[in-house]
Amino acid sequence: MAPFLTSGNKVISHVSGSYPEQNSVKVHMPNIIEIKNVTAYRGQTRVFNDLSLEIAQGCNTAILGPNGAGKSTLLKLLSREIYPVQRDDSYVRVFGQERWNVWELRAHFGIISHDLQQQYMGNALGMNVILSGYYSSIDTAAHQQFSAEDKNRADRIMHTLGVTDLKERMFSAMSTGEQRRFLLGRALINDPDTLVLDEPTSGLDLKACFQYLDLIRGLMQSGKTIILVTHHIHEIPPEVSRVVLLKDGEIIADGEKPEILTSTNLSALFAAPIALVQANGFYQAMPGRGQ
Ligand SMILES: Nc1ncnc2c1ncn2[C@@H]1O[C@H](COP(=O)(O)OP(=O)(O)OP(=O)(O)O)[C@@H](O)[C@H]1O
Ligand SMILES: [Mg+2]
Repeated sequence: MAPFLTSGNKVISHVSGSYPEQNSVKVHMPNIIEIKNVTAYRGQTRVFNDLSLEIAQGCNTAILGPNGAGKSTLLKLLSREIYPVQRDDSYVRVFGQERWNVWELRAHFGIISHDLQQQYMGNALGMNVILSGYYSSIDTAAHQQFSAEDKNRADRIMHTLGVTDLKERMFSAMSTGEQRRFLLGRALINDPDTLVLDEPTSGLDLKACFQYLDLIRGLMQSGKTIILVTHHIHEIPPEVSRVVLLKDGEIIADGEKPEILTSTNLSALFAAPIALVQANGFYQAMPGRGQ
């Protein structure tokens, strides 16, 4: 399993509620995500109507849904790129807060989306993609200051992710798998407690996919919480314990992975006959028999 970097005995600073220091008794931990009665639109399309979802800290979760289910819209609600329709009993909370800024949140919550990958297609160099994570900016800017320790940490992360040789390469001149590693490094620079990953292995060849999954598993095993938003069943690692099935903006099933990840449920989710096979804690979908 890939070794994983944390910044040692970091005491988590508070967004709200009270967090325990490492190894101490849990007092009160706000949920990572609390979505309550949310209605949200993309253009004229109503994607969610009264959606509610809570994800607790430490609960590695996969949100699985077909094309158009609302996965990317959900991520945009979390990153505040879109807002729900305002209603008294409706909110989107991250770590217990409805309003937050990237500075407060970056040590708690990293989102690695495909939009982010697109935004870096300019002249950013590999090293600067990682460093830009400190400021949650796209690329670095002249006014941003980086200490020797900041740069050393970026070097250590690149070493862990196996991309040191690419630090001077333009992001746009990297393969998809290499870009994915740099974006993971950008998120890890702040040592967040939680990472939200959008179809993390799409576009990766088998080796790159397995290596990336290995990195994600290493993160979970080192205590990070992973929320995976995907329609790829094969990228749900054994450490994921909860699965939420999202279809047409509605949660049609939610619970422990063995109960939710079944051929019957997936056939209903994707509206196609699907036979699930399982090996070493991973799942793979095969065409099932027609009705
Ligand atoms: N900018 C937009 N304007 C109007 N409708 C949109 C817009 N973006 C998305 N939609 C619609 O919102 C719904 C949810 O889209 P979303 O991108 O969240 O799905 P998704 O689950 O991420 O799908 P995929 O697996 O294809 O990425 C779809 O019906 C889509 O057509
Ligand atoms: Mg999407």
